[in-house]
Parts: sequence; C-alpha cells; structure tokens
Amino acid sequence: MAEIHTNRWYTNFGPLNERFETEMAMFLEQTGSAKLGTGTFSSATTALELMLRAKRLGEGAKVLIPVLTFPATALSVLNASYKPVFADVDKESWLLTPEIARKAHSKEPLDAVVPVATYGKPLDGEAWLEFQKETGVHVFWDAAAVLGQQKIPQGITAVFSLHATKPFGVGEGGLVATNDLETLDRARSLSNFGFIGPAGVVQQTGTNAKFGEYYAAVGLQQIARWPEVIERRKNVADAYWRELKKLGNRIELQAGCGDDFIPATLQIYAKDLGKQIFDALAAAGIQTRRWYLPLLHEHPALKDITFVGNENVEEAIPVSLELAEGLVGLPFHAFLSDEDIIEICNVVAEVVS
Ligand SMILES: Cc1ncc(COP(=O)(O)O)c(C=O)c1O
Repeated sequence: MAEIHTNRWYTNFGPLNERFETEMAMFLEQTGSAKLGTGTFSSATTALELMLRAKRLGEGAKVLIPVLTFPATALSVLNASYKPVFADVDKESWLLTPEIARKAHSKEPLDAVVPVATYGKPLDGEAWLEFQKETGVHVFWDAAAVLGQQKIPQGITAVFSLHATKPFGVGEGGLVATNDLETLDRARSLSNFGFIGPAGVVQQTGTNAKFGEYYAAVGLQQIARWPEVIERRKNVADAYWRELKKLGNRIELQAGCGDDFIPATLQIYAKDLGKQIFDALAAAGIQTRRWYLPLLHEHPALKDITFVGNENVEEAIPVSLELAEGLVGLPFHAFLSDEDIIEICNVVAEVVS
C-alpha cells in the first residue's frame, strides 16, 4: 500500500499490476503450466468476455458451454455477442469433457467451447489440446475456481477468477493465461476503452475492465501466502473425507475430489436428497449453498439458449438434471474446525441413513 502511494499510480496498468502479472506467470509455471503470457482484468467474467470478443469469432458464433456452471460463463458469451449452446456434463467428473464437445460438434458445428473447471476440478490439458487441434474449435477454459491447481499447456487459454470467494481471492479480479498474445493484447485494449497506443484514441469499442493497483498489491501477498492457504484447505478436506467416508456409498463426490485436487467448494451428491440435506442443515443452523443451481436453462434471462442439436431438455442434459436433484454444497473454508466438520457430517448422516 505504501508503495502505491509513493508511486502515486493507482490503476491503468501500474507497476504493481505489472509485477503481479509477471509473478503470476512464474507461479503458473511453478504449479505445472507452460510458459504463458498473463493479463489482469476486473473479473473473470469480463476477462472471458473480452478474450472471446478479441478472438473475433464473428457475430453469432456458436460457443458450447455446460449447463451446470455459474451464470457468468453464459453471460460472458452473450456479452461478447456470440450464441451460447448448452451441453451436458460427464457423470463422474461433472465436467463438460472433450468427448461431450466432440459429439456436440458433430451434431452442430461449433466455433468455440468454454469448458468449466467445475467446483475447482482441474481440466485435462492434453485432451483439450488434442480436441482443439483435431476440430479447429477454439478452446477457452473457464478455470475460475482452480487457480493454483490447474496445469495449462501451450495452446490453451485459461481464465481464472480472483474473486473473494475463490481460494486465490484478492477481492475482485480476473487473470488470463495464454500463449495467444495477440488476442490478449486486444482484450487488454478492450478493457481500457479500446485505446491502442499512447494517444487515447479508441480503435475498438471497449469498456473499462481494468485491475487496480490495490488488488495487485493484495495479489502479490496472496502468492506469498499460497502454500499456507492450500495447506489449510487440504487439512479441512482431509477432515471431511474422514467423516464422509463413514457414509459409504450413500453419498458421492466428484471424481478425484480430495485425492487429485482440493475443491474450491465442496459438493456432495446424494441421489434425490439434495433438498432434504439442505433443509436439515438449515434447521441445524448450518448454511449451505447449492452452487451452480438452478441449472442455467432455468434462469429466466437465459431461457432462450438452446441445447446442442436443438434437443429437448431431458434428451440433452440427463446427467445435469440428475445431479441437480442431489447436489449440496457444504461449508468449506480454511478456518473450519474438526468439530464443525463432525457436526455438519452428522446432520448429513441422519438424512442419508
Ligand atoms: C465457473 C465460474 N465462472 C465464472 C465466474 C465469475 O468470476 P468473477 O466473479 O471473477 O467474475 C465464477 C465465479 O464464481 C465461476 O464460478
């Protein structure tokens, strides 16, 4: 903070923002990604919208998105003047996979696909890269909740959220990682009204979606704190698994959850019992969230978006419809105690037994 005031530079791509972008590129490399360019934005929503716009897919271009996601995925596509198309997710991983996208592309040719790192589960870099090479469909990852655990190969563009609710939170912010530097430069210009060059001349109709120096300062601290943050979250996850395992197959978790990755938000799935668990926990004074629900097609503002191949709802998204009846997001943050977790899991056990 002192440095910001000494610099007298508060936003507009200041020195802390530059340092944060450089350090984030190093952080991504250290956590398994390729050497990539990085760029900050005011949010993941604006970052995704502006990267999509900057890619110049053409008005009305078709962009495949999962129906099980946070509404911002669809909003970014709509705000970029493209046409989102809904797809289902995989039964085990709860992700829109390359296999699902391949089938969708054969039914209805696509221009781009935005797979989501659902609930903070990392996406498969090699498989998506292969999909992109094979089909020529552009892949933009909505990796909002998975910063720190996602490996990004050369050739894939990923968008992360730095929102306060994310494990790597700074307050508000979005981060793009990509080797498509031309598109990133155009998106960055769009985030600054569309100015290109120093003269303040609008070359494309942009907006204001920049990341200020205060957030960059917090971001630099978050990089330093990350090992501690992830360690705490791992301990909470381990305590949960100890309790949830006692429930056997009465509840299911997203494939690999707790073993291969630590989720951003912890969903449990109990067939048809989502609402009952939600109500029982509420009665016990424990707040839960049904993250990503309702499914996107149920939001009034998104009701006109069609499913792949214009199929009807039941045919198009059977897995998401089933998941929607059984998903509940349990409290999950770095400061939960073992006692809290036991109390929460005891309430869940009563409903599912
Ligand atoms: C899957 C997904 N996409 C996009 C966003 C939007 O991120 P932001 O709040 O940084 O715009 C979120 C935020 O919760 C999200 O979960």
